[in-house]
Formats: sequence, C-alpha cells, structure tokens
Amino acid sequence: MKLSTKFKCCVGVACCAAACKGSPESSPSRSSSASLPAQSSSALSGSANVGVSAPLLSARETEVAAAAEAEAPQKPDVIYVPTPQPVVDKMLELANVKSNDLVYDLGCGDGRIVVTAAKRYGARAVGFDVDPERVEEARENVRQNGLEDRVTIEQKDIFTLDLAPANVVTLYLLPRLNVRLIPQLSQMRPGSRVVSHDFDIQGVVPVQSLTLRPEPEKLPHSVFLFEIPLQKEK
Ligand SMILES: C[S@@+](CC[C@H](N)C(=O)[O-])C[C@H]1O[C@@H](n2cnc3c(N)ncnc32)[C@H](O)[C@@H]1O
Repeated sequence: MKLSTKFKCCVGVACCAAACKGSPESSPSRSSSASLPAQSSSALSGSANVGVSAPLLSARETEVAAAAEAEAPQKPDVIYVPTPQPVVDKMLELANVKSNDLVYDLGCGDGRIVVTAAKRYGARAVGFDVDPERVEEARENVRQNGLEDRVTIEQKDIFTLDLAPANVVTLYLLPRLNVRLIPQLSQMRPGSRVVSHDFDIQGVVPVQSLTLRPEPEKLPHSVFLFEIPLQKEK
C-alpha cells in the first residue's frame, strides 16, 4: 500500500502546523480524510471563543466534511480476488473477442483481463477500478506489457459508467452487483457480449455456461456468457 508523507490534517481548515509536526500521514488518504471532520470540529470550536456564531460554525463544518468526503476514494463494493489466468483465457474465448472489439473489465484488479484481451486478441480494452492501489498495479501491468496504445485504466466507480461504447464486458463481482448493472449493460449494442466469472445475473438467461477446474486441489470456476439484448427469465 502506498504511503503518503503529506500532512493531511490541515486540509480545509486553518493550518495547525505545530499539531502536525511529527505526524505525517501514514495511512491511505481515505482514512486520514475520514478523520477530518473531528479535527476540523475541534479547530472550529476554538474559533467559537472569538465570536463566530453557531450557524456559521455548522456551515463551515458541513463544508469541511463535504470536502473530506469528496477527497476520499470510494470504498470497493467487493474485495479484490484475481481471476486465475486459465479462467481469464476461457472468459475471453467464450466472449469470442476479436481485434475490433472494445473490452471493458468492470473492477479490473491488476488488469490481467484487459491485458490478455489486448495481447492475445489485439482488442482495445479499458479497465475500471475504484481502488487506487489496483489502478496503479493495472497501469504498471499495461506498461510492462507495452500495451499503452491499446489499454487504458481508469479510476472510476463502475456504477457511473456509460457502457454503450463497449461490445464486450467482463465481470468478476458479486450476484447483487451483477443485478445492479443490468440497466447499464442494456445500453450496449445488440450482439455485444457479457461474460461473468463465477456468478450469473439473476433473472437473465445465459446463452452459454461452463465450469473449469484449472487447479484440481481448489474449487471449480464457472463462466457465464450473456448476449445483448439480455434475455430475461420468464
Ligand atoms: C473480485 S475483483 C476482480 C478483479 C479482476 N476483474 C479479475 O477478474 O481478476 C473485483 C474488483 O472490483 C473492484 N471494485 C469493487 N467495487 C467497485 C466499484 N464500485 N467500481 C469499480 N471497481 C470496483 C475491486 O477493487 C476489485 O479490484
């Protein structure tokens, strides 16, 4: 995990350099930001002694809390578990990826799916993740494979994405997250493919599904293929 040496406790409030001294931030910015309202609150309580009215104080606190919130990276909806490479290969094979496809991996982790799509099939690909550590890893993966011209990694919440430009979407999320994505997936053009590792999309009929067991000592993996328009269960 990347550590920042920046002093963060003063963001948005009058500087408290003396209080900061010797306490560089040693945790991810989200946790430091999360502590901001309490610190601001005490700093502002100090101002109240010199005549700032209560309504002004609370407005300032709200402003500072909002700034802290905006600065905090969003918490992932599901933890990072990478798809084993043989399963990645099977997902892309099942999706019939071609060089003229645009592949999106929603929650891309270390970028292995988008890197494989570009390396093996010559596709263009975009990986999205909210976790800055994953984004950094995935970008490094793209650099190491010399794929910067075909693959980009973006730090974004997948639930804010317009999926219309993609014609292949890959998922390794959770059942309830797959269901939440149905309206966005439905924006894709007819004939686009969605391939999901381990979890189907409740209420939607897959056009194909299979299981594979690349590591005999571990549980098998399922892969589900869906096509746009999604076929709803009757
Ligand atoms: C189970 S991992 C899958 C990683 C990769 N797709 C793979 O199959 O190897 C899920 C990933 O989704 C990311 N994630 C969770 N919630 C997210 C959200 N709302 N927006 C973007 N990424 C998210 C996590 O940070 C994690 O890297």
